[in-house]
Amino acid sequence: MIYKAHLIDTPTPDQFRIIPNGYIHVNDHGIIEGVYQTLPASLTSEPITDFGDQLLIPAFYDLHVHAPQYRNMGLALDLPLLPWLQTYTFPEESKFSDLHYAERIYRRFVHELWMQGTMRASIFGTVHIPATQLLMKLLDEAGLGAYVGLVGMNRDCPEGLTNTLEDLEEFYKQPGTERVKPIITPRFIPSCTREMLQRLGELAKKYNLPVQSHLSENRNEIRLVHKLMPEVLTYGDGYLKYGLWGQTPTLMAHCCHSRGRELRLLKKYDVIVVHCPTSNCNLGSGAAPIRRFLKKGIRVTLGTDVSGGHNASMLRVMQYTLQTSKLYQTFSLLKEPALKVSEAFYLATKSGGSFFGKCGSFEQGYEFDALVVNDAYLNAEKYTLPQRIERYIFIGDDRDIKHRFCAGKELAEPSLT
Ligand code: GUN
Ligand code: FE
Repeated sequence: MIYKAHLIDTPTPDQFRIIPNGYIHVNDHGIIEGVYQTLPASLTSEPITDFGDQLLIPAFYDLHVHAPQYRNMGLALDLPLLPWLQTYTFPEESKFSDLHYAERIYRRFVHELWMQGTMRASIFGTVHIPATQLLMKLLDEAGLGAYVGLVGMNRDCPEGLTNTLEDLEEFYKQPGTERVKPIITPRFIPSCTREMLQRLGELAKKYNLPVQSHLSENRNEIRLVHKLMPEVLTYGDGYLKYGLWGQTPTLMAHCCHSRGRELRLLKKYDVIVVHCPTSNCNLGSGAAPIRRFLKKGIRVTLGTDVSGGHNASMLRVMQYTLQTSKLYQTFSLLKEPALKVSEAFYLATKSGGSFFGKCGSFEQGYEFDALVVNDAYLNAEKYTLPQRIERYIFIGDDRDIKHRFCAGKELAEPSLT
């Protein structure tokens, strides 16, 4: 199949690659064979789908999102992290022992990912095995790609919102499907006993599973970790000690306050930072020094962190990434340059996509995960293509997405019932 449109992607972060009225050749396995300004003679007999004056961009990847917090999105953002969890978040997650409730919310959540053009995500479920398995099934039926975690928690949590070491093994021995797979998910150190952290580290190794959790999000959280684990030098050492860092691909959300040794460990173990600026603003957690992470060669991706984040759109996360980067530089004594628009786009596409394989760029051998964007209403005045993509990131939204492709297949709207 060949698609024709204005192709825009970021093979490298420093600039957009723009091919006006370009062609992209996708094979029967959903893999990109090449992009062209002029169609080679060998391809002229292939069927062409012409998207006209629309933009064709890589799909978005949300590397940190809590599916069971969907109902709280845009709500209850008047407390900092630790009381926010106890007051609003744990009570909502407790409801997922009820599979009917879980199905209603998880259908809406899956629909939201589709709607926002987020074709793959790394997702926290709850402690409940049936609800988390249902979430995986709904994602798979929708054709989306995902890693999904059964959240490990057994300390300082409400009754009913805990699980056992046996529950963890039962969930993690299931391999998942081609594109929807399990990911080891300790909630964060304050929610897990040492035995649970140890077992999760063992399961990551035994089943060769990636790991996701939270790191150095909020100052009181960090103080609590040092109180619970007085022997560790940094919060990150607490995961490292139990085999939860770098043994397999590892995602750590936030890292607002990671400095010094913790940064060196992130780099050494190739741990991927998931920057969640909407959440960090809402919960007043802090501002992650993203430019510094990038300069040190630490991998960075983006996440909505719904419902710490108030919005499931990766466009809004890109916008906040740019805005918080500028604010950070105004307060910082180090005069480092703020992030550029192409860099934010790269983080949301090629960088995030790399967690799922070769995804998030229109390069040969990459899976065709893509969005067709109709920004005509933004173009009453004439704009160039570099201006159009910048405006789409700042003022566009899901209504402008006309087609969504994951692994070469166009995804239909998922059912809400
Ligand atoms: N730390 C532990 N649990 C959570 C959560 O649900 N959201 C956020 N933002 N941070 C956490
Ligand atoms: Fe989170």
